[in-house]
Amino acid sequence: MKLESYDSRAEALLRVEGIASLPGGITCSQPKGFSRTGQRGKTLKIVVIGGTGRIGSKLVSYLTEQGHDVIPAAPNTGVNTLTGEGLAEALQGAQVVVDVSNAPSWAEKAVMDFFTTSTGNLLNYGAAAGVGHLVALSVVGTDRLAESPYFRAKGAQEKLIEESGLPYSIVHATQFFEFVQGIADFSTQGNEVHLPPVLIQPMAAGDVAKAVGRVAVGKPVNRVVEVAGPEAFRLDDLVRRYLQATGDPRKVVANPAALYYGVPVSERALVPRDDAKLGTVRFDDWLAQEKLKRAA
Ligand SMILES: NC(=O)c1ccc[n+]([C@@H]2O[C@H](COP(=O)([O-])OP(=O)(O)OC[C@H]3O[C@@H](n4cnc5c(N)ncnc54)[C@H](OP(=O)(O)O)[C@@H]3O)[C@@H](O)[C@H]2O)c1
Repeated sequence: MKLESYDSRAEALLRVEGIASLPGGITCSQPKGFSRTGQRGKTLKIVVIGGTGRIGSKLVSYLTEQGHDVIPAAPNTGVNTLTGEGLAEALQGAQVVVDVSNAPSWAEKAVMDFFTTSTGNLLNYGAAAGVGHLVALSVVGTDRLAESPYFRAKGAQEKLIEESGLPYSIVHATQFFEFVQGIADFSTQGNEVHLPPVLIQPMAAGDVAKAVGRVAVGKPVNRVVEVAGPEAFRLDDLVRRYLQATGDPRKVVANPAALYYGVPVSERALVPRDDAKLGTVRFDDWLAQEKLKRAA
């Protein structure tokens, strides 16, 4: 079965020279012997930590549509990975646990405490429950952005998983389209938005959820796999397009010395490796959809 969320058209859609070497023929067939319901056609019990969030809610829908038994786990469904509350009960009988949670605070100590404590709990409770596959969502470039407390915390989360001995897959995704507003707001000075003109290859949250879902029903790969959007942009250009499309009067200034979320960023720090799988939703199409939603 050819999965519709990835295709080789993505290569032709690249706008920025220098990334034209992204892999061609990017079709993602389901591994042999796997069906809609995952490993050898089985219905899997899959617990989605952060299952009420931006990615989590889309992931829960995607996996449920595939016929799996999916448990959205978050504090407001009675599961708290920081305290361990409800975790043993939720994980009972689960084959797969997917962590797409996020820290409520990105302050240095809070964010590190969140990702290390909640991941530690998840690994301990997961091992006790006999979970066979832990999938975690992280960010492309995490290792290149270690000056940022948030990315240091994501790096610590990844390290705990890699060293746990539990079969795992870590999915690195690029920035979500839904996150562009946040980038603009963080870099605003008066009526100007100062951004370094580095490369970025953002993707739709829906494409992220599908990619994570496909990894979740496959075998653990015990490494990082990367996913990204179909087109690369200059960061300043991406934000300029977003602000223009949303009628925001702020002016975007390309400034090579400007920081990205408070840290220096190099030309290719935010773009994935050549073997990244690419989503199909283009930024302009997503913007048009968002405009329609706002008008409705
Ligand atoms: N933003 C980007 O561009 C980007 C790019 C690549 C990867 N990522 C990664 O994507 C992941 C998900 O991001 P998102 O934007 O979908 O997050 P989000 O919308 O903020 O959702 C976070 C989820 O985590 C849950 N949560 C918070 N504290 C919890 C706890 N103690 N125990 C269990 N669940 C808890 C929340 O539940 P409540 O609603 O009940 O609090 C919510 O369901 C993050 O790990 C992030 O690093 C983000």
